[in-house]
This record gives sequence, C-alpha cells and structure tokens, in this order.
Amino acid sequence: MADRKQKAAPEEPSAAQEKGGTRFTRRGFLKGAGAGAVTAAVAPAVLVSGAETAAAQEAEGVMSAPVTLDVNGQTHNVEVEARTTLADALRDRLEITGPKVVCDRGECGACTVQMDGKLVFSCMTLAMDAQGRKIETVEGLADGDNLHPLQEAFIEKDALMCGFCTPGFLMSSKALLDANDSPTPDEVREGLSGNICRCGTYPHVFEAVMSAAEQMRKGG
Ligand code: FES
Ligand code: FES
Repeated sequence: MADRKQKAAPEEPSAAQEKGGTRFTRRGFLKGAGAGAVTAAVAPAVLVSGAETAAAQEAEGVMSAPVTLDVNGQTHNVEVEARTTLADALRDRLEITGPKVVCDRGECGACTVQMDGKLVFSCMTLAMDAQGRKIETVEGLADGDNLHPLQEAFIEKDALMCGFCTPGFLMSSKALLDANDSPTPDEVREGLSGNICRCGTYPHVFEAVMSAAEQMRKGG
C-alpha cells in the first residue's frame, strides 16, 4: 500500500457550482448516483462505456459467462469474462458508478465496496468471485431521500473537493463506524489509511467521521 501523505486543505470551493448549465450540488453527488455528475470531470482514459467494452470483446472473440451479482439488495444478471473485475462489472455493465477506478491496482481505495460486510478493492476482485456475495456500494448508503449520517457530515464538514475519492472514503468510514461507534481520531486515521485523497481533504474527512459518529450515537 502506498504511503499516504497529508496536504494542506485546498481553498474551499462553493457548496454548489454550475457545471455546463447543470446544477451540481454536493448533496446530489453524495447520494451516490452523483457519480454521473462527477463523470464530466473524470479523466477520459478511465471511462469506457459498457457498449464499447462489449464491442471490443466481441471483436476479439472473447468468451464470457453469466454471473449473478447482489448489489445493494438487488439481483443483477450480467455476462463477464473471467478476467473482469468487480469494479468493471459494476461500472461498465451495471452502470453502478459510485465505486471509482483511479489506480486500478489496489493502492488508492477509490473503488472500495463492501462484500459480505468486509471492505474490498473492487478493482482487485474478480466479478466471478463476487457471485453469491452481498455487495454494498455507496449507492446503497442513503435510505431513500435520507442521506446516511456520514454523507450528511461529509457535506457539513466540506470533506470533498473533486469527490473522486469520496465513495471509497464513505464505504471505509461506514465499515469503521459499524465496528466501532466511538473511534478516537487516531482510530479514524488508521481506519481510513487504505484511502488516498489527492486533493488533501484528510482533515475534513476525519472531522466528518468524528461528527457522524457522534450523531449516530445520539440516534441521528
Ligand atoms: S482503483 Fe482500486 S484501489 Fe485504486
Ligand atoms: S476530494 Fe479529490 S481526491 Fe479526494
């Protein structure tokens, strides 16, 4: 795992920004489906549509096999190659784009999801190995229109800049608080040590997790 270096928090952005004429809000992003809004800011190299992937595979004569994935309580049937990662199956085949593919080699944590309650890097997990497991992504955190306390705290504490690392941080934070509802600041830092934020929002993230823990203890 690459060392994580903390940086000074960048200048604060406004809570809501106009992006190409579309209202872009942190709240919308944090509902998980907000990945679509972020897509516009993503390096094109990591974004390949499912149709493009399927067409490329067909041209290469690549064989695929059906798998059934349980994602956020919903069953999905999808065709994947043996080499298809869970991250690619979620993003390219199922259009569940909360998990982000940044390093694609188990170093940054942006693709973090829970599988049977344990955190995994979805870029390092084969889709076929995820069959029969319960997969939870950031899209499953909110309860309808009600954001998870962690999502509320990330908004309140300005714990994201570009937001690319945020789904991974949220999933790691949820696992942390599920296991320990009263973490110390050091335990929060340790619990999130598998996640890297290139924008340097660490102090805000740690503050948000402490705040969410307090809210959750109060039943909020
Ligand atoms: S994209 Fe999976 S760990 Fe970085
Ligand atoms: S907010 Fe940009 S990488 Fe973390």
